[in-house]
Amino acid sequence: MAATMKQVVLAAYAQGNPKPGDFRIEEVPVPEAGECEILLKTLYIAVDPLLRFSVDETVLTGAGRMELGQPMVGPVVSEVIASSHPDYAVGDVVEGRSGWQEYAVLAPDLSDYRGPPRKLDRSLAPVSTALGVLGGPGQTAYEGIVKVGRVKAGETVVISAAAGAVGSIAGQIVKVLGGRAVGIAGGAAKCAALLDLGFDAAADYKAPDFADQLRAAMPDGAEVYLDNVGGEVTMTVLPLLKRGARMAMCGFIAYYGVGMEGPGPDRLPGFYRLIMNKGLEIRGFAGMLAGQQGLEDIARWMKEGRIRFAESVVEGIEAAPAAFSSVFSGHDHVGKLLVRVAAQG
Ligand SMILES: NC(=O)c1ccc[n+]([C@@H]2O[C@H](COP(=O)([O-])OP(=O)(O)OC[C@H]3O[C@@H](n4cnc5c(N)ncnc54)[C@H](OP(=O)(O)O)[C@@H]3O)[C@@H](O)[C@H]2O)c1
Repeated sequence: MAATMKQVVLAAYAQGNPKPGDFRIEEVPVPEAGECEILLKTLYIAVDPLLRFSVDETVLTGAGRMELGQPMVGPVVSEVIASSHPDYAVGDVVEGRSGWQEYAVLAPDLSDYRGPPRKLDRSLAPVSTALGVLGGPGQTAYEGIVKVGRVKAGETVVISAAAGAVGSIAGQIVKVLGGRAVGIAGGAAKCAALLDLGFDAAADYKAPDFADQLRAAMPDGAEVYLDNVGGEVTMTVLPLLKRGARMAMCGFIAYYGVGMEGPGPDRLPGFYRLIMNKGLEIRGFAGMLAGQQGLEDIARWMKEGRIRFAESVVEGIEAAPAAFSSVFSGHDHVGKLLVRVAAQG
């Protein structure tokens, strides 16, 4: 094993969308595991949009802000390469939050509220899926569609950021439940990819005729809106929803980096009017509440061939800053975007 390793540290708080230059690659000694600790070799890093709350110059939530010079936090899949902890053996593959570094030491008994690293069943699916369909994004999609959206057979469900990790799974869950899935994504290629995944229709929010495309995709409106975006996309969706529609508010990526008050005109009056006139039921959720039940159902649906996982992989830890930045500035990837740091074994 190497004596030194690479890690990605935060070099500057992001002003506007994060840029690769907001991060720095550092070479540091590989840590050593002490008593009841495990040494992990990172295999995959998930470049999750929610990490943004820790690195933005303009703080939008109460999420813990990172210190400059600190290694990036966030979900990863790793292999245990040394262990003096009774529950973890060398060769186990785990999902945890040991961050953007090639190796990490963890004390499973001292884990934060998220609990100790989750041991993965490698017979179920490729281990990378623990960061996507069989991890946080899958649980989030399940929560939004099954629990908050309460989608029933025959209902139309419109999903923003549908080609992303959460949206691409959410649309497939809608199909399992017997609903009609309408996806919104940026660009014709991503819309075509949604149809390949089984969505019934798609609309390109970057096209000048987005509103027309969306109206054509759901001529009778929609009973449920799973919103990952907010902003202009949501203001186009709301007038098309049916009376009493349920809006599961999962994310608002169009506003990340904006702060608590946007720079533009105040759109809240129009928003309020639509909520009242349409009798919308709006419920936000955070924290992947679907838990184990959600993961078990999704794993079963995958086994039955009813849900496919979509993921895109970029190579090498050095690629992580650019991959993270591209989540906000635009990329061609469909499904969960991952950085492969090392091969297993
Ligand atoms: N509530 C929770 O517990 C929870 C958990 C996980 C994630 N989330 C939230 O759910 C959302 C989706 O997460 P994810 O993991 O699926 O992310 P993801 O796979 O990284 O996909 C994000 C996609 O959002 C789209 N996007 C980015 N900026 C946009 C903008 N300004 N306007 C419209 N679309 C934009 C882009 O797709 P296009 O190329 O199509 O533009 C991008 O690929 C995020 O808002 C995230 O923060 C919430």
